[in-house]
Amino acid sequence: MSAHAPHQRPDTGVSPLSVQALLARERDRYAQTHPRSRELAGRAAEHLMFGVPLHWMNDWGTPFPLQVAHAQGAQLTDVDGHTLVDFCLGDTGAMFGHSPAPVAAALQRQAAAGLTTMLANEDGAVVAQLLAERFGLPQWQFAMTATDANRFVLRWLRAATGRPVLLVFNGCYHGTVDDVFVDLIAGQPVQRPSLLGQVHDLLPTTRVVEFNDLAALEAALAPGDVACVLAEPVMTNIGMVLPQPGFWEAAQAIIRRHGTLLVMDETHTLSSGPGGYAQAHGIAADAVVVGKALGGGMPCAAYGFTADLAARAQAAKRAAPPGHSGIGTTLTANLLAMAAMRATLEQLLRPEVFAPMHARAAALADGLRALFQRHGLPWCVTQVGARTEFQFCAQPPHNGSAAGAAMDPTLEHALHLYLLNRGVLITPFHNMMLVCPDTTNADLTRLLQAMDGALKELGRG
Ligand SMILES: Cc1ncc(COP(=O)(O)O)c(C=O)c1O
Repeated sequence: MSAHAPHQRPDTGVSPLSVQALLARERDRYAQTHPRSRELAGRAAEHLMFGVPLHWMNDWGTPFPLQVAHAQGAQLTDVDGHTLVDFCLGDTGAMFGHSPAPVAAALQRQAAAGLTTMLANEDGAVVAQLLAERFGLPQWQFAMTATDANRFVLRWLRAATGRPVLLVFNGCYHGTVDDVFVDLIAGQPVQRPSLLGQVHDLLPTTRVVEFNDLAALEAALAPGDVACVLAEPVMTNIGMVLPQPGFWEAAQAIIRRHGTLLVMDETHTLSSGPGGYAQAHGIAADAVVVGKALGGGMPCAAYGFTADLAARAQAAKRAAPPGHSGIGTTLTANLLAMAAMRATLEQLLRPEVFAPMHARAAALADGLRALFQRHGLPWCVTQVGARTEFQFCAQPPHNGSAAGAAMDPTLEHALHLYLLNRGVLITPFHNMMLVCPDTTNADLTRLLQAMDGALKELGRG
């Protein structure tokens, strides 16, 4: 997930007036049909700051927060009794469906046998071995969230290389890791002004270039002070940005030539297969980060290193004075999280689970393309693994700036709310739809029919 700064409205092919009118109608409809959510939201506002457990839960664009009753498989039921087909799936945390049976069973077993001890059990070795098999990296450690995993990896890699600088691609999101919140504005690096309470100047130690720009990458690494490039293999948080053919092959050669390490953040691209996108596309990273769906919805994450990097990281730890490394949290790798990861790895991170998800995502992408074409809209659709994204531009964007320029938050809100009011939930902040093993063809039809309805209404204005 990621929220981006406002900018000039792109040419989306629909009139701003009809977007505003649709949004107003859908806000009314939501307010009328969600009395119980309204009531619970009112009660929550008494003691929850912002009225929600996490302030960005207000950013869905609903007049008041939707309150969940329960969720199972591809469906989510709200407290007013509406059943929604869920294509957000907790922004990937529930990629294997809500409460997948193997994970629910493992949690139930483990819940009766201890939740957290700050000690290892057999699951640790099994989970690490399965991660090594899936992702092709031999050495693993854990975290509670992908954010923390990225934060810890940065520490290890800065320590292992003795280099201070991080390189990221413009428009990236890797969780709330402060270091990555540097944007390129008109070609200049700018620390994201929305970051609260940030007292450190990030610019000296974070370098940012556009995705797919090999010359800029080469120039940014040339000083020899960059510890690592932290990247998603496909950008997924500013809409979707695909690597151009040959990009990663050439980028890897440049990165290696400058003695920099490559970290692949597969938190979202895990939907490409049991070993993530990098494994499926021959990208050889020095480190891999996996989070969100890795525990089937339980908070946990993992990061893996090559043998060489693991040796360098361990040497750095041995050489450091005794004391806190700055890496880890008390409940990290707790017994419940390990049980959840084991169940996910053993029973869900398997090719036969992914194959139908990919087929459904491809069908959804085809359906959306046909729909946009029929409505004469210059919107593109990109599908990677089980993720499908539509963007308000005719061609898939080639970098973060182009992807950001194609965003239209008001149009997104209007569409998302229209869909929600018709029983379909998609991811806020951009237009991502994720398919899980429980998603049916009927669910796809429901989404496509609802979208068709929204586009007809937008065309009216
Ligand atoms: C690529 C990527 N990495 C890391 C994260 C952080 O995950 P979490 O919020 O679970 O820490 C996200 C969240 O959206 C992400 O998209």
